[in-house]
Amino acid sequence: MLNGYRTTALLYAAVELGIPDLLTAGPLDPAELARQIGAPPEALARLLSALDQSGIIRHGGDNRVSLTSLGRELATGATGSLQSLALVTAAEFLPAWMQLSSAVRTGGAVFGEVFGMTPWEHRQRNPNLNAAFNRWLDDETVEHARSILRAYDFSGAHEITDVGGGHGALLKVILESHRQLRGVLIDLPEVVVDARRVLHQIQAVGRCRIEGGDFFSGISPGSDIYLLKSVLHNWNDADCLRLLQSCGAAMSATSRLLIIERVLPDGRSADASLRLLDLHMLVMFGGSERTADAYRILARTAGLEITQKIPVDCGFTILEAVQTGNKRRPEHSR
Ligand SMILES: C[S@@+](CC[C@H](N)C(=O)[O-])C[C@H]1O[C@@H](n2cnc3c(N)ncnc32)[C@H](O)[C@@H]1O
Repeated sequence: MLNGYRTTALLYAAVELGIPDLLTAGPLDPAELARQIGAPPEALARLLSALDQSGIIRHGGDNRVSLTSLGRELATGATGSLQSLALVTAAEFLPAWMQLSSAVRTGGAVFGEVFGMTPWEHRQRNPNLNAAFNRWLDDETVEHARSILRAYDFSGAHEITDVGGGHGALLKVILESHRQLRGVLIDLPEVVVDARRVLHQIQAVGRCRIEGGDFFSGISPGSDIYLLKSVLHNWNDADCLRLLQSCGAAMSATSRLLIIERVLPDGRSADASLRLLDLHMLVMFGGSERTADAYRILARTAGLEITQKIPVDCGFTILEAVQTGNKRRPEHSR
């Protein structure tokens, strides 16, 4: 367990040196690979042996090296590519996690101690990192979007706003499956600049509006459905309350808010990866994963009532909320 950092560093070194990309076109002789990377062949051979042992590459009978299916996941543009995650892990996650004890002592984020700013500010100042983080989220979100569509019926709605919707990956999948829907994407200005690439076809036919801004300072009214996917877990209770109030102020008496999160089970039975994700939220943002009850209490304090709890087959739960006092229940969920 203590040597786990070596595997992380090994994968990161492979990505940093461009090995998965260089091998995407086909097997290469290690000496040729060393020449293309500009590294001494002996040092590269040592790295390649370790990557072979980890199942990332394979030495063939002709001694040329090729990518395994696992290694292909680290290449640029691979479906569900983990290359971006490798980059963000090395640049941000690992340095912040090394201060985990400090986060536990204070009960707040330690990212600021390490970097002197929030993760959002850090990414704003490092466009390559910002792009890598959002690419990773896009890939992950597209996978989740199909499951969310199966779990929730969007057919009665006319307009949907994705609050903190990143590049619009979830919004795109929903709008493509429901031709009657118009969409609004709200995220930080430096994030939405790249959303135009994801949403341009839908934007071109006037079915989508992109708004760069701060979701705490105001959210446009008029949508039937507001989405908050993987957003509240980034924030502490006080900020969650401000954001839920901001959503509540935009909602009409018939609007619904869908909080889509990995919900902690009551008690201590959550699986290890969810417990670690909870600590990740603490270290990075001072946020946390929460139980459905904790979301219910936050929502109620913000003047919202959770009316439905719908499990999604990718591990998320949809918590549907309406303004308190508007508990009408049309058949919106399957
Ligand atoms: C964990 S990501 C989730 C993105 C998307 N909902 C998804 O599930 O893929 C959180 C998002 O909140 C956005 N965000 C953070 N602070 C924000 C703010 N003050 N105003 C608007 N968006 C913000 C980030 O840029 C990021 O896209």
